Amino acid sequence: MANTTQISQTDSEDLLHSLPKEKGWIGLPLYQYQGSWCHAKGIEAALSLQNHFHACDSDVILVTTPKSGTTWLKALAFAILYRHKYTFSQNPLLTDNPHDLVPFFEFKLYANNQLPNLSDLPSPRLFATHIPYSWLPESINNSKCKIVYLCRNPRDTLVSYWHFTNKARPEALGPLSLENGLDLFCKGITGFGPFWDHALGYWNKNLERPQKVLFLKYEDLKKDIKYQLKRLAEFMGCPFTMEEEKNGVIDEISRLCSFQRLSSLEVNKSGKSIDYFENRTLFRKGEVGDWMNYLTSPMVEQLDEVMEEKLSGSGLTF
Ligand code: A3P
Repeated sequence: MANTTQISQTDSEDLLHSLPKEKGWIGLPLYQYQGSWCHAKGIEAALSLQNHFHACDSDVILVTTPKSGTTWLKALAFAILYRHKYTFSQNPLLTDNPHDLVPFFEFKLYANNQLPNLSDLPSPRLFATHIPYSWLPESINNSKCKIVYLCRNPRDTLVSYWHFTNKARPEALGPLSLENGLDLFCKGITGFGPFWDHALGYWNKNLERPQKVLFLKYEDLKKDIKYQLKRLAEFMGCPFTMEEEKNGVIDEISRLCSFQRLSSLEVNKSGKSIDYFENRTLFRKGEVGDWMNYLTSPMVEQLDEVMEEKLSGSGLTF
């Protein structure tokens, strides 16, 4: 993004009119801006973020594509980073949805032309976003702040995205078929997609600047949460001590943030944190490999072919 001043309403409308547009998954149009697909409000918020956000060296920014485990990552990072502030029995994660505790830049802080006052937030500040690497404000790049990226295998991401968007789709439109969803996904038309460009943007930065960008995979978190939590804590600059490890702090954090625990909390069964969906829609199955129950062999072939082509030579595999 090249803009350095606040974009006006007219500028924003002119910009949107000039961009390629597609119908999207939930009836809201997606626009292709600088190679990535996004709804209008997301682009406006990203521009505002670009113009107004000043990163601090101690900031931690969590990044994901939608449906790759954002809620989980927010909970884990919050529990780790602020573990000396809250006891496990009185942790805010028990009463607040992770999206309320770790705000999105584009859906919350910079949404609807708001300019948040972030200067009073206690350090280290924890933020989240779905926006692609190339859209991040300069100050995130230039400061010593840390970026944690969580990726999920594209088959499960697609299935999760499809379920989720069908819940958010207006009834009048009827459900989107999985075949249509797959076609859109393979064309790269998903919120903040293409999926592969999003992942590669952060993957390549992780290779170039591993101390700046940590690249995690949902499947690895599922396989060995303890090891991955140690990596995460160390990367965020607050490694677990031997004492903490011996006292079961890592196990407590993993239990507190588990799918079972979070999804059973009242706030996550009945609350609403982000405008257009209810918290319970954020918790479906939370498993690896659920794609097997939905994708046929030809569908898997179609998706794998695109992924192999797009990720070829990058070293990123699923
Ligand atoms: P499924 O639809 O496959 O169940 P996001 O948070 O980015 O919207 O991702 C949502 C996906 O993460 C959903 O996947 C959801 O069930 C899963 N999820 C939510 N909380 C989780 C947790 N604590 N542990 C593991 N997976 C979780």
